[in-house]
Amino acid sequence: MTKELPKDFLWGGATADFQYEGGYAEGGRDPSTHDYETNGSPEHPRHHTMKMPNGDTINLKSSFLDAEDVPEEAKPVWLKDQYYPSHQAVDFYHHYKEDIKLMAGMGFSVYRFSIAWSRIFPNGEEDEPNKEGLKFYDNVISELEKYHIQPLITICHDEMPVHLALKYDGWSSRKVIELYVKYAKSLFEHFGSKCKYWLTFNEINAVRGFGPSGVHKATGLRRYQAAHNMFVASAETVKLGHKLIPGSQFGTMYALSTCYPATCKPEDVFHNQQELRENWYFVDTMGRGYYPRYADEILQHHGIKGLSEIKMDPADQQILKDGQLDFIAFSYYRSNISKAGDKWFNVGGSANPYLEKTPWGWGLDPLGLRYTMNMIYDRIQKPIFIVENGMGAIDKPDENGFVEDDYRIDYLQKHLSAMADAINIDKVPCIGYTMWAPIDLVSLSTGEMKKRYGFIYIDMDDLGHGSLKRIPKKSYAWMKHIIETNGKAL
Ligand code: BG6
Repeated sequence: MTKELPKDFLWGGATADFQYEGGYAEGGRDPSTHDYETNGSPEHPRHHTMKMPNGDTINLKSSFLDAEDVPEEAKPVWLKDQYYPSHQAVDFYHHYKEDIKLMAGMGFSVYRFSIAWSRIFPNGEEDEPNKEGLKFYDNVISELEKYHIQPLITICHDEMPVHLALKYDGWSSRKVIELYVKYAKSLFEHFGSKCKYWLTFNEINAVRGFGPSGVHKATGLRRYQAAHNMFVASAETVKLGHKLIPGSQFGTMYALSTCYPATCKPEDVFHNQQELRENWYFVDTMGRGYYPRYADEILQHHGIKGLSEIKMDPADQQILKDGQLDFIAFSYYRSNISKAGDKWFNVGGSANPYLEKTPWGWGLDPLGLRYTMNMIYDRIQKPIFIVENGMGAIDKPDENGFVEDDYRIDYLQKHLSAMADAINIDKVPCIGYTMWAPIDLVSLSTGEMKKRYGFIYIDMDDLGHGSLKRIPKKSYAWMKHIIETNGKAL
């Protein structure tokens, strides 16, 4: 069967502002939650540090910061002996022209990027958006237009202005819904005529912790209350977007790396089905516009009686119904396994013994992508968009900085072939594919630089040292050819 894809299939790459952009204190931007996150490694987890005006150091990993106790004027400052990767990231802020030209060189037709909320509303509560922030993204979009690349904008990729986290305890507060919708409205008014595809949130089913949610100790009821507030914010935003931008299409992005039963023992199969509902809870509610019948069961795994414990407004049900997503966007990296008696998890599972693994232990499973695409479409019957897929690896550049990344080519060849089969054989409608990440950037989970995903190498180490020079890898030319042939060469 041919691997050639439908004519209008979108090819591109995806990035997130705090992993890529840098310029954290430029252009009127205030700190966002990730700006307090240190670098780390698989052995030494990242953590958030802050110093408060009274001199106390707050380690958010171990202490609960009560929003009521934070004075209005509290502005955390950095600790001096730590490296905070988001501050410079890989400096797209000053390299956007060069980077977009490189993306265009591969023939991209779409580029997924996130807008930093704190660039547009620095503390999240201003009346008017920050003009300099809007100007930066105007420049980015003009550059994309030059090469006929359409933007796919993530409104909120796992972060928020730190002020909202400290003052309102992030998404645990309904107040943040109103502030998010105001932020989204200003994006629609400013960029609406230039952007058709939007994502309200990134990996919403994996959101926990201070960085992504702004919520301290985002577990149990606190996590699911935050999720409800995000569902309502997303639905309000979709409604507004449809009104303000005719023809606009909205998705939210889910982490849908999948999980299989560890054996065919019925108890393992059943356990795995229940586990997968942790993810479907998020997809079903937003994709169908109402909480699924098994919602109470999921919540009970987290010590919550049921939906009745979550604070909702009487209007919420209707808002969820009216603000359903137009397409389902997801990330897919790997597959895991689960069995009866395993500890309950949100997104995860144990290693699949049948699979080879990346140096970070992520199991390589291309067929899992085809399986996942079918699962989503069978269930929700809305078009899908693969907005993250890729392989974190240790690249070894030669003396000229050139990387022969045959392992990455192999990963992509197999995953893209599986995707083409899902589209051509299984007839799953798929809008496009944005590879994570076309250019090396800072890892979200570990804060490392050496976990590289890109077609383009960046000369920078884990502590931000290096020339930041951009050098295409072997996979760059390979991907260019795949896009030129619209998949036929796979
Ligand atoms: C997804 C996120 O979870 O996976 C990205 O949306 C992230 O922000 C990507 O970078 C890969 O994960 P990591 O930890 O390897 O950077």
